Amino acid sequence: MNIRPLEAKAPAPTTIDDARFAHESEEEFARLLDFYGVLWQYEPRTFPLRQDDEGRIIEAFSPDFYLPDLDLYIELTTLKQGLVTDKHRKMRRLVERYPDVQIKLLYKRDYLSLLAKYGIGAVNEHDHMAVHEVLISATEIDRRVSELGAQITHDYAGKELLLVGVLKGVTCFMADLMRHVSVPVSIDFMTISSYEGDRSGAVRIVQDLTESIYGRDVLLVEDIVDTGMTLQHLIKQLEAREPASLRVCALLDKRARRLVETTLDYVGFEIPDEFVVGYGLDYRQHFRNLPFVATVRSEALRETGAADESDRVH
Ligand code: IMP
Repeated sequence: MNIRPLEAKAPAPTTIDDARFAHESEEEFARLLDFYGVLWQYEPRTFPLRQDDEGRIIEAFSPDFYLPDLDLYIELTTLKQGLVTDKHRKMRRLVERYPDVQIKLLYKRDYLSLLAKYGIGAVNEHDHMAVHEVLISATEIDRRVSELGAQITHDYAGKELLLVGVLKGVTCFMADLMRHVSVPVSIDFMTISSYEGDRSGAVRIVQDLTESIYGRDVLLVEDIVDTGMTLQHLIKQLEAREPASLRVCALLDKRARRLVETTLDYVGFEIPDEFVVGYGLDYRQHFRNLPFVATVRSEALRETGAADESDRVH
């Protein structure tokens, strides 16, 4: 028999204020999703499971959450065995009847591992506690990087492009960006260190490019532009090598802190004057593996590593 899920009568709640949660754990889960910038709907659909001979619905199931970006339903559960058995039975029936529907039954302790599995919060316990606020979620980064890639593809149509990344902060951005650029690309990297103790901004090239950039169309890819001093220095060095063109693409622009004006041709996000980590950016080599951009609790910054920061490799 062909049965279809029933839409809720009113639009499904998508914010904590609008939702009337049946259990505290649902609200907690919604807060966690908000924290990581994952869109959700609360109980948007009811799935009829069984009907009597006259077609009346005699059993139905309304999963707690739907996550549109993942096309995934979530049912939260407690550890009470009786309830879990019943939910498992209903879920089996749901999957039989609606084979295209993806649904997960989630215990409270599974929250973080679920987020990690879907690439939203591959965060260990320590890092999770250290994160103060997620400024840019993994989904937002994904969308913006693909837009940048499309724009770059358009602007460099008919050309071959050399992407030059500045290590190490640029690793995630470079890897994602290049997959959204569809003109032929080569990549190269340089490692620099800037002496921060005397605020001179003097930049040392620790490891230079492996290829010549003479006569080539070069796009310098940076993780973040803060004072602009690093970038200005790099541009001067690269321009001296006479590329055919040189443009700059930065994931993050901390414009409020700019001391040296430099043109950024492509910018992912403008961010406020706060120290951020994640998606390649570090604090003393920590937090690069967070899949989002976040601010970190100051206590966590103090605890993290005791390395001397005066000669810092990016
Ligand atoms: P600028 O020379 O002041 O523009 O500094 C740019 C470099 O400083 C970046 O490439 C980063 O390595 C580092 N940096 C600046 N702000 C941050 C931040 O908020 N988090 C992590 N690294 C940062």
